[in-house]
Amino acid sequence: MAFDDSLVKDVLKHADIVKVVSAYLPVIRKGKDYLAKCPFHDDTNPSMHISPELQIFKCFVCGTSGNAIGFVIKYEHLSFKEAVKKVAEICDYHDPRLDDIHQTKVVDPKRGPLVKCLHDLTVYYQYALNSPEGKAGLDYFNSRHLDADLRSKFLLGYAFKDGKATIRFLEEKGHSLKTIEDAGLASPTTGTYTDRNAGRVIFPIIDANGDVVGFSARRLGDGQEAKYVNSPATYLFNKSTLLYNFNNAKEKARIAGYIYVLEGFMDVYALYRIGIESCVATMGTALTEEHIRLLRMLNVEIRLCLDGDLPGQKATMKVANELANAGLNVRIVDNQNSTKDPDEILNQDGPIALNAYLNKLISRVDFILNYYKNTNPLQTSEQKTQLIQEFVPVLLGIRSQLELDSYLNKLADITGYTPEAIRNILKTARSKPKERDFKEIIRQNNPERKVLRRLEFAERELLYQMLQNPEAVAFYEQKIGGFYDETYRIIANYLVEYANEHKDFVPVDLITSLETSELAEKDILINKISELYLERNHPDVCNQELLDNLQQVIDSEKERIFENDTLEQSLEGKDPKEKARILSDFNRRRLRKKR
Ligand code: UTP
Ligand code: MN
Repeated sequence: MAFDDSLVKDVLKHADIVKVVSAYLPVIRKGKDYLAKCPFHDDTNPSMHISPELQIFKCFVCGTSGNAIGFVIKYEHLSFKEAVKKVAEICDYHDPRLDDIHQTKVVDPKRGPLVKCLHDLTVYYQYALNSPEGKAGLDYFNSRHLDADLRSKFLLGYAFKDGKATIRFLEEKGHSLKTIEDAGLASPTTGTYTDRNAGRVIFPIIDANGDVVGFSARRLGDGQEAKYVNSPATYLFNKSTLLYNFNNAKEKARIAGYIYVLEGFMDVYALYRIGIESCVATMGTALTEEHIRLLRMLNVEIRLCLDGDLPGQKATMKVANELANAGLNVRIVDNQNSTKDPDEILNQDGPIALNAYLNKLISRVDFILNYYKNTNPLQTSEQKTQLIQEFVPVLLGIRSQLELDSYLNKLADITGYTPEAIRNILKTARSKPKERDFKEIIRQNNPERKVLRRLEFAERELLYQMLQNPEAVAFYEQKIGGFYDETYRIIANYLVEYANEHKDFVPVDLITSLETSELAEKDILINKISELYLERNHPDVCNQELLDNLQQVIDSEKERIFENDTLEQSLEGKDPKEKARILSDFNRRRLRKKR
């Protein structure tokens, strides 16, 4: 079939490259464009630019570029047709002409025999469940409310107690002992091959392709032996790359707009029993990078629902942060007051209770605040300071002013800091990443690469002098319009105030006064001041010449920074060629000025 040109055009017309790339990678906005860490080379800074205007992406380091379809082809290793279909899916564009496109599965010769063997065994386990011996398994499933519908949907089964007979069955079906071993079904440790799942109920594990790749086998009821026995890691089976029910859930999630991430497959069944099919479970492992990658592809809200006990709360903290750091949209099922898993809630409290539970969703920030409030009453002032410090990056990421206010109040409530004090800390912290960004821009644009260091050096020197003698403080007050470095500026302002009130101050007094002050950022300030006091490489005379010199450096470097800021603004939204022209022009002018 010749590929329909107009179809491609239609898809591209309805596609949004930012949405497409975001389905795979965290993307950040930068002016008119978007940036992402380039997946096509070992990228440390986001060097891939995505232009919504031009609907293209380009990595400025490795050069990889293209449109939305090109991105998917390269990222997913799909054919052109498959990528067109994928782009349409991600962008919610429907066209009957797309229905004819099917993903051709890559034939992997190593996979075939294993998949076939696992399939035959799955059927055998299902057959066993309906045999007289399997009655025990059937009773167990019924006791857990797993009805015939669920059992067949999830291919549940039972493994005969005679594990050797099971292996014989597979051999008679034509599977070699090597295949049986490679599929993770048995190992000859005891000299003979025998089914490791014998006497248990069976939960087949299906991968994203829809093939059974391993089993989890549960003991019937309570007992001494391990509750679940899982297939060992094999060529096909790896717990850290698999999410239970992902294969079914991926379609459901796109429709629902969310997916529940649960702890066990019993919880998946519980959700199915109340009609929620957009859910997956990790299999007793922490959420891995690979899991996160799978979830990201869905491009939906993640609803994290882990156990409510203390380890579960801790895991939730960790996973929620990882998901958020990976750029995924996450909310958390508020389980602070429950130690039951969804399966237990459904069986003990009924479907309405489970539904209510699953819909009590809180933001990650609320979760963290509740967690501290309920589980870890903050006692010492260090603990409180620590919490504030941990929270600064979280708060910095919040856009909405209303939301931020509410969090500030809660955090204030928990820590005893005033909301204004926390706001001040945020202000200080906010300047830091900017400075780093800023340094990066300077480094990229300026071959001399010295600008900030000079400025920092001069400011530091002046601050040092201010800590030694009042003339320097007066000089700062009259001649310097404020330090560029935010911490230095706060210290300097504090010093000015202090010097006005204490005409004959001794340096150590300053630290004492800070210690007893209400300033939220006092620890940072005290640290910095002590560090400065302890430095030895400063001129020991402070005369007018030194001060004038420092002022001259500070003024000129600040001006240069201002120029760079303007440069940055003028670069925004320009195409690469235009950018190169502006930059070379800028550098030429700067060199001329220096001479
Ligand atoms: P749970 O202990 O929470 O299991 O472990 P569960 O889902 O509540 O099971 P029931 O209700 O007691 O039958 C969560 C997941 O951890 C893995 C399983 O994948 C389980 O679904 N697990 C647990 C094991 O692999 N081995 C075990 O011994 C226990
Ligand atoms: Mn359970």
